[in-house]
Amino acid sequence: MIDVKPVLLSGIKPTGDLHIGNYFGAMRQFVELSKTGKYQLFVFVANYHALNTIQDAEEMRRRTNELVMAYLAIGLDPKKVVFFKQSDVPAHTELCWIFDTITTVPYLMRAHAYKDAEAKNKEISVGTFNYPMLMAADILLYDTAIVPVGADQKQHIEITRDVAEKFNRIFKTDIFRLPEPYIMPDVATIPGTDGKKMSKSHGNIIPIFASRDQLARQVMSIVTDSSGERPENVYRIHRLVRADSELLPLYEAHRGNYKVLKESLIEDLDRYLAPLRAAYETLKQDPGIIDDVLTKGGQEARAISEEKMEEVRRVIGVYQG
Ligand code: ADP
Ligand code: TRP
Repeated sequence: MIDVKPVLLSGIKPTGDLHIGNYFGAMRQFVELSKTGKYQLFVFVANYHALNTIQDAEEMRRRTNELVMAYLAIGLDPKKVVFFKQSDVPAHTELCWIFDTITTVPYLMRAHAYKDAEAKNKEISVGTFNYPMLMAADILLYDTAIVPVGADQKQHIEITRDVAEKFNRIFKTDIFRLPEPYIMPDVATIPGTDGKKMSKSHGNIIPIFASRDQLARQVMSIVTDSSGERPENVYRIHRLVRADSELLPLYEAHRGNYKVLKESLIEDLDRYLAPLRAAYETLKQDPGIIDDVLTKGGQEARAISEEKMEEVRRVIGVYQG
């Protein structure tokens, strides 16, 4: 029987220490969805996207391994998921080029990432400018139905849909399926220790696999605002690991006592993260597992994407006959 389950796909860049923003904003949903048995799953390391910022071979290798171990540690089952490196599947960059040829420069100049870089007067690489096109290729190669991402990635999915529609229109085909983003509403943006969006580029993160001491240091550094009813920055992180119904009385009872509330957060975070940390440490002892998983995943992804590329090459007329 042909497997007709909808495809769910996600990519993550190996560009920094994974933090609880990544975890609650994207990774956890992916693992939860993977357990429903309703989808065909693809997850990949977006190392060619990362090459825009990581330009050191040793660092690229180390961060890639850490990322794969992280996904396995949080419960992704490699038997149920096609898990691979973007660079192991040449169709991604090939299709990216094809999309480049049907996309205008002014259109890509509307992308948030480009506009932010412009606003900061940053010099921007062609690869960064073109980032959404490679992402569109990542998604469209696999007939993806759903892309679980954080709210900040919504525009990239819209761009992906535009590109798919445009390609289908120009080449009078329907080979590209339009994907939908999947965003968990109540965890849309996890704040960092400074209250702004948690992001490795802001230096305000709480790492997923932090030791208890590191956790304690980071939590103690959370900026508290004495003007409000409660320390919002602490509360917004706390509610990720403990129900509002328990937190509300706790915060009421310790109103103004930030130290006690932070200590409680350290306790709850540590309890939540300890099993993930233990699984990560176990995987570290057996790095061969990572290679096996990626080799198998790469083979599967190449076979599937190559079939799609044959259709694409035929539709655009680079195949004779
Ligand atoms: P960072 O902002 O640390 O550079 P990435 O851009 O690599 O993180 O994001 C990886 C995934 O994690 C994306 O799907 C993104 O939307 C999600 N994500 C990152 N930070 C947060 C956050 N603070 N809240 C919710 N989701 C987040
Ligand atoms: N842009 C995504 C991020 O910053 C990473 C990514 C690359 C991705 N290709 C993708 C996510 C395809 C989902 C689907 O996190």
